Amino acid sequence: MKTTTQLFAFSMIVLMMIACSTTPKQEADAEPVIENDERMAWWREAKFGLFIHWGVYAVPAGKYGENTNHGEWIMHRAQIPSAEYKQYASQFNPIKYDPAAWVNVAKEAGMRYIVITSKHHDGFSLYPSAVTDWDVVDATPYGKDLLGPLVKEAHKAGLKMGFYYSQAQDWNHPGGAKSRYEEGDGWDEAHKGDFDNYLENIALPQAKEILSNYPLDILWWDTPTWMNEERTRPFVKALDVRPEIITNNRLGIDGDTKTPEQFVPVTGHEGDWETCMTMNGHWGYNAYDDNWKSSEELIHKLIEICSKGGNFLLNVGPTAEGEFPQPCIERLQDMGAWLKVNGEAIYGTTAGPFNYLSWGAATRNGDLLYLHVTEWPENGKLRVPLTSKAVSAELLVKPGETLHMSTESSRIIIDLPSDAPDPVASVIVLKLAEEPVAMPLASEGKVITASSENPDFPASYAVDGTGHHIWEAADSTGESYLEFDFGEPTLIHAVGLDEPDRWPRYKQIIRLEAKTENGWKELFSAKTNGHGAVRKFDPIETTGVRLYVERDEGPPGIAEWQVYAPE
Ligand code: GLC
Repeated sequence: MKTTTQLFAFSMIVLMMIACSTTPKQEADAEPVIENDERMAWWREAKFGLFIHWGVYAVPAGKYGENTNHGEWIMHRAQIPSAEYKQYASQFNPIKYDPAAWVNVAKEAGMRYIVITSKHHDGFSLYPSAVTDWDVVDATPYGKDLLGPLVKEAHKAGLKMGFYYSQAQDWNHPGGAKSRYEEGDGWDEAHKGDFDNYLENIALPQAKEILSNYPLDILWWDTPTWMNEERTRPFVKALDVRPEIITNNRLGIDGDTKTPEQFVPVTGHEGDWETCMTMNGHWGYNAYDDNWKSSEELIHKLIEICSKGGNFLLNVGPTAEGEFPQPCIERLQDMGAWLKVNGEAIYGTTAGPFNYLSWGAATRNGDLLYLHVTEWPENGKLRVPLTSKAVSAELLVKPGETLHMSTESSRIIIDLPSDAPDPVASVIVLKLAEEPVAMPLASEGKVITASSENPDFPASYAVDGTGHHIWEAADSTGESYLEFDFGEPTLIHAVGLDEPDRWPRYKQIIRLEAKTENGWKELFSAKTNGHGAVRKFDPIETTGVRLYVERDEGPPGIAEWQVYAPE
C-alpha cells in the first residue's frame, strides 16, 4: 500500500506530465480567456453611445408612393422588388460624409462608443465585401469603404467602435430571412432561396470579414428571424478572432447585453442591458419626420436608464449626402453640455435603490448616491424615500456647500435652495453612511390576484421584481385584471409596469382603478405599445387597486407591476 508521501510524489509526477502535455502551439492557439467583468468594464463605465442607421434607404428618405412614413424597412413595408430597390444605390453618393465630424459630434455629446449599421436588413454593405457586389464599392458612385475611416477616427478620439450586422434578415441576397414570411419565402422571386445557403455564402463570410478587417469592440446582431441555436454556432466561433468583443442578445442565443428597444424597463434588467432609441420616429433617415424628442426628454431618458443600471444607445439616421440632421446635432450638443457639468453622476454609475421617484431618479457610485432632480420641489424640501442613513448632501455644482438634512419616517428631507441650478436636471450628491435601503413600495409583499391566469404565467410573476417572468390571462377574451389587496388604507400616487418584451409588440389598453367606500374609482387609462407605462396620479388612500388590461391580439400580459407611495 503506497504511503502518503509516495502518493503525493506520484500525483505530482502525473500533474507535471499533464502540464507538459499542452504543446506551446496549443497554448498559443488557445484563445486567452478574458474575464467577463474585465471585458465589460469599459462598456459599464461608458453608459452612453451613438447608434447610426445608414444605408441606401436614406435615398428615398422615407417616401415610397404617397407614403412618407418609411425608414430602413421601406423595401419590406412597401414590398419593393429587389431590382427596383437596388436602383437607389446609384443615387447613394455621400460626398458630404466627414467621419471625423461625426466622431466629434458624438464625443462632444459625451458619448463613449459608436455602433453603425455595416449591413442592415436590405443586405447592402457600407464596407467592401468580397462575397457580394451589393456593397458601397460595387453598387454606388461613391465606390469607397465608408466604415474604415469612421473606425479610425473613433479610436483616434478614444471612442469604442461597434458594427450592427443583420445576420439573418437580408432582403436582397437569395435565401436571406424576411420577417413575417415562411422560411425560403419572400415578396419577390429574386430573393427567395435557401436560408442555410445564404448563411454559409453571405452572412458568415461577411461576419468574418468585419471581425477580421476592423478592430471592433462591439458586434450588434439584429432580429434572429429563422435562426436557431445550431445556425448560431459558426457565428459564435467567428467571434474568436476578437476575444474582447461585446455582443448583444439578438444573434439567436443570449449575448453579453440585453437590448430593450424604444423603452426603459420599469424594473431595469438583470445583468448588462442597453436601451436603444430613436430621436424621432425612425431609425433610418426620414425627411418628413420632425417628431423629435426634446433635448430635455433625451437627458431625462439617459438619467432614467442609468438609474436602473442600463446603457443608452441613441440613434441618428444620416442623410444620403452623409450629414447628421441638424435637429440631431442640436440635441446631442445639449446632452453634451449637460454631461460636461453632470457626467460624474452618469459615467461608471450603477442602478440606484429606487424604482420610481416623482421628482427624478438616482444613480449610484459606491457610497455616493446622485439624486437627479427634474421636478424641483416648490417648498424647497426634497423628500428622499431612503430608510438608511446618509452623511451629507451637497449640490454637484457646489461641492463643499453642504445642504441641511433631516429625517422623517422612512425619509431623508434635504433643504434645497429656492432655484434649481439646472432647469433640465440638477444633481445632489448624497454621501451614504451605509448600504442604501429604499422605503418599501406600496405594493411590496402585498397579496396579488388575477381575474384570469394561464397556470404557466400566474399573477405572482407580475410581482417577482423582474420583467423576465410574466403574468398572462388564461385566454384572449376581453379584459382581465390584476388586483393588489393592501390589507389596510394605503396612500399611493403612481404605478409602474413592464409589458412582456416580446415581438410582435403587445398593444394593450390599461386602466387603473382604486377601491373607495363608494366603489371602484378609475385613476387613469392608457394605450400601450409593448413599452410598459409609468403613470403618476393625485395621491389617494385606498385598500386595493385593480389593473385592467385588454390586448388587441392574444391574451393580455404584464411582466411587472409596482405601486408607489408618495415620497
Ligand atoms: C428595430 C428596427 C430595426 C432596427 C432595430 C434597432 O428592430 O426594426 O430596423 O435596426 O430596431 O434596434
